[in-house]
Amino acid sequence: MTTLFMHCRPGFENEVCAEISEHAARLNVPGYAKGKTSSACAEFVCSEPGGAERLMRGQAFFQLIFPRQWARGMFVDLPETDRISVLLKHLEGFPLFGSLWLEVLDTNDGKELSNFCKKFELPLRKALTKAGKLVEDATKPRLLLTFKSGREVFVGLAEVKNSALWPMGIPRLKFPREAPSRSTLKLEEAWHHFIPRDQWETRLAPAMTAVDLGAAPGGWTWQLVRRHMRVIAVDNGAMDEALMDSGLVEHLKADGFLFKPRKPVDWMVCDIVEKPARNAALLETWIGEGLCREAVVNLKLPMKQRYAEVRRLLERIQDGFAARGVRVEIGCKQLYHDREEVTCHLRRLSK
Ligand SMILES: C[S@@+](CC[C@H](N)C(=O)[O-])C[C@H]1O[C@@H](n2cnc3c(N)ncnc32)[C@H](O)[C@@H]1O
Repeated sequence: MTTLFMHCRPGFENEVCAEISEHAARLNVPGYAKGKTSSACAEFVCSEPGGAERLMRGQAFFQLIFPRQWARGMFVDLPETDRISVLLKHLEGFPLFGSLWLEVLDTNDGKELSNFCKKFELPLRKALTKAGKLVEDATKPRLLLTFKSGREVFVGLAEVKNSALWPMGIPRLKFPREAPSRSTLKLEEAWHHFIPRDQWETRLAPAMTAVDLGAAPGGWTWQLVRRHMRVIAVDNGAMDEALMDSGLVEHLKADGFLFKPRKPVDWMVCDIVEKPARNAALLETWIGEGLCREAVVNLKLPMKQRYAEVRRLLERIQDGFAARGVRVEIGCKQLYHDREEVTCHLRRLSK
């Protein structure tokens, strides 16, 4: 198990390499990172046995920004026929695993391979179960097979509680037909990622209040209304009429960077496409001054040094709260529905 394999959005391989190298250095795991541009994956090749396992144990997957999925293991060459026997042989030295996911990369080649994976999964699952390797036990690691082609697969393991929630880190969210824009899925994905499902009833509760900055036409507001929240939607643009008919939305034609609510609200969300430093400053003000308890804000990424820039912004936000003496939980992720941006979630812990 010498390699840590990671999936990402195509074009963000350098960011994954920079991020994982920083964590490896912190955890004293020697090795090097590599990732071919637009391959949708990157690797951290450890120079000591057990390095990848140590890296995964010392780092919460949830807190990584650019990797969508990860697994420790190695590449295995497969023959044209009887791939299952070769895989079973390779897995002999592996511990038992509690679940199995077949994955492909988020590229055009990957999409073509997903049909092959669908057909291959059932016979493989049967063979692994018969061999006593797959035991359907959520406490055991998951076997992740990432097919790069029909002839090459990364055979890896990851702990269920310390890896992606969905295969390849891609959520299966259905676009709701009534939602006014596709952006709606971004906020829904953010909630799935940042808020444990068993806390939705209390943290995304009916009768809560929210402000949506840059709300038009209303995809994010629609998600808040779906949770029966009352929303102030701030945007000079027009809001979707059916959404306004819900009676739960007040539309204010105002500048989102100047607007402040009369009374503190539960949620502030912001999808304004602006310089990231400006959106980061909004977060500092709203959470720091107690104008809202939780926030989801998009940060647009620069063209270069994208990981370094995100880290710099997050550190600045953290320093701002430390100076105010306010305790805040901060999460940041490039979600599947994010393009040249990352999504930040903040939760004020101090009263
Ligand atoms: C990406 S769109 C938001 C889409 C929305 N979240 C949805 O799901 O339908 C960005 C919006 O920000 C608005 N906007 C840009 N600058 C703004 C500002 N300073 N204050 C308020 N809204 C602003 C634009 O009018 C635009 O409607």
